[in-house]
Amino acid sequence: MNRLNFRGIEIVYDDQGQGVSIILLHGFPFDRSMWREQIDFLSACGYRVIAPDLRGLGETKASGEISAMEDMARDVAALMDELKVERAVICGLSMGGYVAFAFLRKYPQRLKGLILADTRPGADNDEAKANREKVARIAETEGTGAIADLQIPNLITEETRRHHLEVEAFIRRMIDAATPQGIAAASRGMALRPDSTDMLANIHCPTLVIVGEHDVLTPPSVAQDYAAKIPGAQYIVIPSAGHLSNLEQPESFHQAISGFLYSVSW
Ligand code: MLT
Repeated sequence: MNRLNFRGIEIVYDDQGQGVSIILLHGFPFDRSMWREQIDFLSACGYRVIAPDLRGLGETKASGEISAMEDMARDVAALMDELKVERAVICGLSMGGYVAFAFLRKYPQRLKGLILADTRPGADNDEAKANREKVARIAETEGTGAIADLQIPNLITEETRRHHLEVEAFIRRMIDAATPQGIAAASRGMALRPDSTDMLANIHCPTLVIVGEHDVLTPPSVAQDYAAKIPGAQYIVIPSAGHLSNLEQPESFHQAISGFLYSVSW
């Protein structure tokens, strides 16, 4: 585990392996430990894997009432500066994907490739924004357990819940380890993100779009539609996975990203 002080916050991150750099950006309200299997797999495959806790989550503390996606993207760029990584492949899952879009908007030249998993380019509509505020208040008033109860049914499939109790237990532990303030700040930050749909046609780095077959939060229909708008993007559906495809079907997820990364690295 490593730490970087940047603009008043301490960013905690993992940095494992050597080779082309790949930066893994976690979802909401998780932390970098959701990538533990990918960190081991990719570093063993010859990549340098960097996985930060995004501000307010995991061991990186929130700096205010709102953790904007742009601020998280700026943290990622600062981390790259610190680690002397000029360009990297960025892989973001769900909220991590929103941060990847914010990064793309600010630093397109620093992307060697882009993996967008179980995410969407669109902004929240008014109803979704109101729901973000509701989630923030639930976190602040009822705590992390209530957030886990609320989120988990939408994050993984019934099949995973029934047959892989360890996956649900792991997700619950991550959410419990977060702070109510950090969860609330990220929820409010997501509500403010701009629509990135207009950027899709101008993505010039190799791009892979991944989605779980049964993802109810960012369904395959949405993923397929936006992947078709990115020039040359690959599109892969992970069978028998919901929203957290990397945790539910790690082997299929690894297969999907390793083929893509191999093509990007040469
Ligand atoms: C996530 O997994 O990061 C969240 O589902 C993102 C969201 O709520 O939009």
